[in-house]
Amino acid sequence: MIYLLVLSGILLYISGGAGVNALELNIAVKSGSSGILPCVYDKQHKENRKYLCWGTPWSSCRILAYAGQTGKYSITDYPDQSIFTVRWDNLQTSDSGQYWCAVEIGDYNIVDAGYYLYLTVQSAPDVSVMNSSVSGHEGDNVSVQCFYTSGYQNKLKQWCRYKDQSCYTVGRNDTSQNSSVQISDDGRSFTVLMTGLRLSDSGWYFCSAGEALNPVQLTVTEAEPDTGTEKDKWRFCLSQN
Ligand SMILES: *[C@@H]1O[C@H](CO)[C@@H](O)[C@H](O)[C@H]1NC(C)=O
Ligand SMILES: *[C@@H]1O[C@H](CO)[C@@H](O)[C@H](O)[C@H]1NC(C)=O
Ligand SMILES: *[C@@H]1O[C@H](CO)[C@@H](O)[C@H](O)[C@H]1NC(C)=O
Ligand SMILES: *[C@@H]1O[C@H](CO)[C@@H](O)[C@H](O)[C@H]1NC(C)=O
Repeated sequence: MIYLLVLSGILLYISGGAGVNALELNIAVKSGSSGILPCVYDKQHKENRKYLCWGTPWSSCRILAYAGQTGKYSITDYPDQSIFTVRWDNLQTSDSGQYWCAVEIGDYNIVDAGYYLYLTVQSAPDVSVMNSSVSGHEGDNVSVQCFYTSGYQNKLKQWCRYKDQSCYTVGRNDTSQNSSVQISDDGRSFTVLMTGLRLSDSGWYFCSAGEALNPVQLTVTEAEPDTGTEKDKWRFCLSQN
């Protein structure tokens, strides 16, 4: 159960050149829960080592985990998506503090790139999802339910994709919104229905209410092969010989 508070727009990207981004994300995590957060980086840093660092200032932060390491914080790199994820387990209020999503660029003369996250561990996050990981086959429909607290009832609510920052707005009724995504709102939660999934829909999304966000990972796998027609094809091939 996590949310992100983005201060100036939704620019989550680690800067293209070296240097630490001044962008700040405030994330609240439910005490004792596990959660996962995507860190987006520039394509040019695909090959570089990714890590999570703790403490301030940046120049003296303590490295908690590198990509590939598991433990309280596990980092997985997805170079084809230019994203690495940080998964955590059983965070306590004492784990609140400043963290950095970072990419290692130099060796000795370290000039890394990163952005910081302010993480607070609390009991009731403002926006939450039942399941931060959903999956379906190509052509299927999947739905994601995003809960929000009463203070967010009249705030702008959206479902957005990290990769291209495209968003669907709850209750907006114009044709610029894609009909393959339908959103309904019941005053306590909104439900996003994604219909006719395509493989290209795989990736990271978030639901947001006001400035509070919650990431969700969607995995779309190939449709189950139609064994009937496959068999017919083989029969056809055999009959040709
Ligand atoms: C979340 O969804 C995934 C994939 O659909 C499923 O494997 C997992 O069991 C679900 N977790 C919970 C807590 O519902
Ligand atoms: C959306 O448009 C349809 C048809 O144009 C209309 O019936 C419906 O009331 C509209 N909904 C909202 C929330 O404006
Ligand atoms: C609607 O969404 C689908 C799947 O994400 C995409 O392939 C299609 O291009 C979108 N259409 C428009 C008009 O944006
Ligand atoms: C997916 O949702 C659409 C729109 O609600 C519906 O018409 C369709 O039957 C659904 N498909 C499946 C496989 O459930």
